[in-house]
Amino acid sequence: MQQFAGKRVAITGGTAGLGLALVHELSARGADVAFVARRPDGVTRVAQEYGSRVHGIVGDVAVEADIHRIALQVLGALGGLDVLINNASDLGPVPLQLLADTECEDLERALATNVVGPFRLTKALLGSLAASAREHRRPLVLNISSDAAVTPYPGWGAYGASKAALRHMTSIWEQELADTGVRFISFDPGDMDTALHAAAMPDADVATLKRPEVVARELAEVLAS
Ligand SMILES: NC(=O)c1ccc[n+]([C@@H]2O[C@H](COP(=O)([O-])OP(=O)(O)OC[C@H]3O[C@@H](n4cnc5c(N)ncnc54)[C@H](OP(=O)(O)O)[C@@H]3O)[C@@H](O)[C@H]2O)c1
Repeated sequence: MQQFAGKRVAITGGTAGLGLALVHELSARGADVAFVARRPDGVTRVAQEYGSRVHGIVGDVAVEADIHRIALQVLGALGGLDVLINNASDLGPVPLQLLADTECEDLERALATNVVGPFRLTKALLGSLAASAREHRRPLVLNISSDAAVTPYPGWGAYGASKAALRHMTSIWEQELADTGVRFISFDPGDMDTALHAAAMPDADVATLKRPEVVARELAEVLAS
């Protein structure tokens, strides 16, 4: 199944959970994939497992100084870009806290990871995405959202505020760049059996949660549409 042969995809947060499932699903469908994560051991492990069409990049999307290096490494590895998936995320305080008990630094980290990082990385890669549009490759920026972006769940203030901002920013990117041919979508994957979910809700019944592999297949269909 080489449905995505020649498609160049960058994924932030590619060593666990949904990001790892996307690395697996999209590379299996023939895409060339560059993924980002902070911990070098995880990046090396995944890159070695998937071979020459999957490129690992060590970096932190919350750190301003990392963004241009990540963008350069993405473009160096892939030779251009058709799909950017802003997937890496920060929960805010763990265990979850009411807003009144949330440290300012925890809110800042959630915003840096979930909003400012995707903004910086999108800006850094916009020229390449526009070039992809000029070549009629239908480029897409896919920002991973959450139901917490629309529903004000108590205890999820830092995360929910950051995801709401990301979702709204996605809609504005979509409006402002409609003429360029670069598409923007935010996607709520639903509750998944991942480390992030376990950190937020350690008592959840994992049998009720979606497998990230199932969500990755849903997202592959979004990319194909
Ligand atoms: N799980 C759910 O139930 C659920 C529900 C709704 C929405 N979502 C959204 O789905 C997306 C994926 O979540 P997940 O549950 O799959 O997460 P996860 O299992 O915790 O995986 C997070 C991945 O992102 C990387 N990462 C974290 N912070 C990073 C940073 N600052 N820079 C670069 N990489 C970073 C991690 O590796 P390192 O630690 O090595 O950096 C890891 O590869 C997120 O946007 C999340 O908000 C999840």
